[in-house]
Amino acid sequence: MFKRPVFNNTLLNWYQANKRQLPWRQTSDPFKIWLSEVMLQQTQVITVIPYYEKFITKYKDLDALAEADEQALLKDWEGLGYYNRIRNFQHAVKEVQEKYDSKVPDNPDEFFKLKGVGPYIGGAVQSIAFNNQLAAVDGNVLRVMSRLNRDKRDMTKASVQKDVKKYIESDMPLEAGDYNQALMELGAIICTPRTPKCLICPVKAHCEAEKANEVMEYPLKKKQKAKQEYYYNVFFILNDKDEIMLIKQEDDLLKGMYELPRFDVDTSIESIEEKYNLTLSQPSAPIGSHKHIFTHKIWYMEGYIVYTADHNEDFIPLSDLQNLPMSVAMQKMIQLIYPEGESGL
Ligand code: ADE
Repeated sequence: MFKRPVFNNTLLNWYQANKRQLPWRQTSDPFKIWLSEVMLQQTQVITVIPYYEKFITKYKDLDALAEADEQALLKDWEGLGYYNRIRNFQHAVKEVQEKYDSKVPDNPDEFFKLKGVGPYIGGAVQSIAFNNQLAAVDGNVLRVMSRLNRDKRDMTKASVQKDVKKYIESDMPLEAGDYNQALMELGAIICTPRTPKCLICPVKAHCEAEKANEVMEYPLKKKQKAKQEYYYNVFFILNDKDEIMLIKQEDDLLKGMYELPRFDVDTSIESIEEKYNLTLSQPSAPIGSHKHIFTHKIWYMEGYIVYTADHNEDFIPLSDLQNLPMSVAMQKMIQLIYPEGESGL
């Protein structure tokens, strides 16, 4: 075990001298800190920065975000993925508006009851905004801790993560927010997954894996499961009113997002006509394809143009296409017919 008080001080000093000037580190507004952590939970810093800037410009405070149109929020979130995050966040800030007079609760018990607030977001916001002594354990922190302690446990397991959290909280300095961010920062810029910079690591004297010359062996890697592959035909169904058919997603993860009709490759035109009560032309020759890699799966999509004389509420004017929230996978397909920059139609 490493010497906690010396380690803690060394790490905090290093953080003060070396931390990156990130936009959410220039504010003490709990709403903005919360927004940043929701964005950062599954997305890298470099990607988050412009989204964060856009959001705090457009939604200046908690009330503005609570009262925003959900579709506009999803559109602004487009490209960040995990769209549930922003829907849950809006749900939670509405609750804060109603129950707590628009003030983010500084009481962890109240905060943890809000939608989308789990151990990570709860710990990060409560520590950074209010200095409550809670850990914020993300992938960076797990990697750092596994190396420091030569901890061979499976860091992807919730029970292990809970244990790491308890371990950090058992000896946390008063500057809880800085301390959590220091651990994350160390993981992000020094104790990186593939090229750790042990030579310049401020806490290498405390690192059991470094002493054993085994840094690259931690965290222990489980064999990666192969990504499941899916093959789809994606239809651009156009009618004579310059409209295109889009499906509004209803399932939990992508709720509120739009997509082009997408079918398993062996789906017949007749069954599609029946499902949507449409009369369709034969599909065009394939107009292009896109392979989209998600965290746990891969989609192989091939695009076809199909015409119809039918109209119904699933058809939207082509000129609205750019205003609707759509996953990046679908935007790539749209770019087959409207290359980037030309989607103004
Ligand atoms: N990743 C998650 N939270 C972060 C923060 N506050 N600063 C930098 N990277 C982070």
